[in-house]
Amino acid sequence: MANSPNKKNNYPNNIGIIMDGNGRWAFKNSFKVSEGHKKGVDIVRGIVEESVKQKINSLTLYAFSSENWKRPKAEINSIKKLVINAINDQVPELKKQKVKLKFFGHLDDFGKKIQDKISFAEKETCTTDSQLNLNVALGYGGQQDIIDIVKSVSKEVASERLNIEDIDGKIINEYSSVPVDEIDLLIRTGGDKRVSNFLLYQIAYAEIMFVDKFWPDFTRDDFSSCLNNFKKVSRRFGKRI
Ligand code: IPE
Ligand code: IPE
Ligand code: MG
Repeated sequence: MANSPNKKNNYPNNIGIIMDGNGRWAFKNSFKVSEGHKKGVDIVRGIVEESVKQKINSLTLYAFSSENWKRPKAEINSIKKLVINAINDQVPELKKQKVKLKFFGHLDDFGKKIQDKISFAEKETCTTDSQLNLNVALGYGGQQDIIDIVKSVSKEVASERLNIEDIDGKIINEYSSVPVDEIDLLIRTGGDKRVSNFLLYQIAYAEIMFVDKFWPDFTRDDFSSCLNNFKKVSRRFGKRI
């Protein structure tokens, strides 16, 4: 099960980021919350470029959680608009960089317009020689994903398409909506030290780095520092080494 680090430079293969702090950044700078989210999207560009440069296999971003539906309608609408605008603005560039986009989570809850945009973005960036897999969690919750997996696997067992004895980590990953099996490095900005329902199953052996900066203030250098700190970590996966 355990992933080995990127062979070329000991950087992580699969990175997850909880991009937190847009609201507080906006408040601190006397902007509207929507401005914070807009700035947050802009920050992603540099992090993607650096990930391509450093030959990271996948970058999985937490854009909107299952629980974020509890936020004010106006904020949710501004985030929906941002998703559309971000796809329109960034897909040509992502295509040029051979970045393969994949959205996951309860996407149905976002309506047809966003779902169509997402399908377009995924088709446009689909390539067999991708330089980076960029996964975006939208309407995603780790607990909900585990519940969905249990339901789907139970159906397969009930209809005798799957034996209970054959259920293993591989099957769980197959039935999960998450496009990456294991996260090597999880970064959370914003200062809080929690995982807020992100990739619960996949972060089992992830190194977790909490960065005391709001996401819109997170720089490419901050990201490089996280990568370099990862190199110094001894990952034992339970073994005596
Ligand atoms: C993260 O920033 C982005 C989303 C959850 C959509 P927040 O909006 O949570 O920012 P803070 O934590 O309130 O500062
Ligand atoms: C996590 O941030 C979700 C995203 C970054 C999309 P939240 O702001 O929703 O998490 P809590 O409420 O601080 O735990
Ligand atoms: Mg937050």
